[in-house]
Amino acid sequence: MSSKELLFYDEYEHFYEMADRSSAFKSFCRDAFGEDFSQDGFSDIRQINRIIDHIPKGRDVHILDIGCGNGKMLGYLQKKTEAYIHGFDYSVNAINTAKKLYKTNADFRQGIIGDIEYPSEQFDVITSMDSMYFAPDMERFLLQAMKWLKKDGVMFVCYQEGDVMPKTDNMNTTVLARALQKNSIRYEAKDITKETYDLLKRKRETALSYRKDFEDEGNTEWFDLLMIQTDCVTEPYEMFAGKMARYIYVIRKLNGFK
Ligand SMILES: C[S@@+](CC[C@H](N)C(=O)[O-])C[C@H]1O[C@@H](n2cnc3c(N)ncnc32)[C@H](O)[C@@H]1O
Repeated sequence: MSSKELLFYDEYEHFYEMADRSSAFKSFCRDAFGEDFSQDGFSDIRQINRIIDHIPKGRDVHILDIGCGNGKMLGYLQKKTEAYIHGFDYSVNAINTAKKLYKTNADFRQGIIGDIEYPSEQFDVITSMDSMYFAPDMERFLLQAMKWLKKDGVMFVCYQEGDVMPKTDNMNTTVLARALQKNSIRYEAKDITKETYDLLKRKRETALSYRKDFEDEGNTEWFDLLMIQTDCVTEPYEMFAGKMARYIYVIRKLNGFK
């Protein structure tokens, strides 16, 4: 299947083109998330800093980000750890920006989740921030990514339910958790739904404070989208948590895993 036929392809091309040129969006990201990584999703600096604890220090360390967007999160991780950064995304606009921004110890590729291939045992750390859902078969893709990890490697996944994925009971009943259990892969999970509710509230307040800047740039449609995306936090937390959930999974490749 070509990229253009995939879910949200045109929307993401448009999004990364806007993210490149909009000063309002850059300022919004910095204020709402703590750093501008052109976030479309829900990963603020607090979530991203948790990855650093799992990255060994030094230039021989290789990190892959699945659905890396324009690579700014990887650029941040490289600055903090000196790691070699690898990322892929189906968005041509996103990958062009990543290649322009990061030229040293970096490999960015345009590719589709489930199609793109890397050699076995290549990466110390793999990250997937709101991108696993786009795999046509999540279990198959999980096993593919586990193959790319070095022995003792770690995969760090931020995973949301209630939008692309339907809400299940808890962090051990998601499609990802069930695939991990079925394949006896060791994982730890943390429920960060309340943290996400607070972040979405901040996202909404910050977007409102930049409303005029978005309008002056002719980017009102992005302001409107931010309002739609954060409408769920106009309800009390208990109602939000009945419909949405967010989890962090830390998945370990131990010796026995093939
Ligand atoms: C929700 S966004 C998350 C982006 C970024 N990781 C973040 O946390 O801000 C999903 C990302 O996955 C990419 N994507 C969506 N479907 C994809 C697919 N089938 N293959 C490759 N990339 C895809 C999008 O272009 C986008 O960058």
